[in-house]
Amino acid sequence: MRDFVVAGNWKMYKNPQQTKAFVDEFLGLLERDLQKKILLFPSTLCLQTCREALSGSYIQFGAQNCHFEAEGAFTGETSPRTLHEFGASYVLIGHSERRAIFGETDELLSKKVKSAQEFDLTPILCIGETLAEREAGETQTVIKRQLIKGLSLAHLEKPLILAYEPVWAIGTGKVATPAQAEEAHQFLRSVLHEIGGGKLSTHTVILYGGSVKPDNARELGLQPNIDGFLVGGASLKPTDFAAIAKVSKSN
Ligand code: PGA
Repeated sequence: MRDFVVAGNWKMYKNPQQTKAFVDEFLGLLERDLQKKILLFPSTLCLQTCREALSGSYIQFGAQNCHFEAEGAFTGETSPRTLHEFGASYVLIGHSERRAIFGETDELLSKKVKSAQEFDLTPILCIGETLAEREAGETQTVIKRQLIKGLSLAHLEKPLILAYEPVWAIGTGKVATPAQAEEAHQFLRSVLHEIGGGKLSTHTVILYGGSVKPDNARELGLQPNIDGFLVGGASLKPTDFAAIAKVSKSN
C-alpha cells in the first residue's frame, strides 16, 4: 500500500510570524495523527520557524527548491546537504514556476533529483503539461519526456515522489477532472514501469496538484492512482488545508 501524502506549497507567501500562526492553528485543527504524511513547504526564510513550530508533531517539512551541489560558488542557492542537516526531509524539484520563470530544464532537474536523494531528502519531482500542449494532444509526450529525463540520474531504489501538476490548473481555479487526473497518473505509472519495472511503478507515490480545494479533494483522492495532493493556494489557510489533509482513500 502506498502512503497517502498531503503537501502544502506556500510559494513566496507568509513571513515567520504568519508561519508560526498557521502551524499553531493547523495543529489544533488536526487534533490527532491522521495516519498519513502531511508536509509543509514554506519559503526558505520561514523554514526555521516552521521546524520549531512543528517540533513534537508528526508533520514534516521541506524546501521548495535546492541546488544540486553540496557547496560551492553558487550565489543565492540553497545546499541540499545543509537542508538535510537542518532537518528538512523533502524538497520540491521542478515546480512549473521554476521551469517557466527560472528556466529550469529537465537536464538540470535530473541532477537535483539525484543530489537530493544522495543527501537523504525525498525529491518531489513536479511534471505537467501547459494548456497549449494539452490542446495540441501532446500531454502524454510532454509528461513522459519530463519523467524520463527527470529520473535519468535518479537512484530508483531510494525514496522518490512525483507530482502531476497540469500547468493550466495551477493557481487558476481550473482543476483537472478526476478522470483527466487519473488518466495522467495511470499513464505515468506505465512510464515508471518502463523506467524501473513493476516495483517502481506500484510503489511510487504520485500526487495531484492544481487548484486542489476542500470541495474537490475528496473525489480526486478516491481515484486509484492518486496518492495525495500538492496544494498551493488552499494550503495557505489552516482550515482549508486541514480539510484537505483529512481526505483519505476510504472517505
Ligand atoms: P494551486 O497550486 O493549488 O494554487 O493551484 C498548486 C501548486 O503550484 O503546487
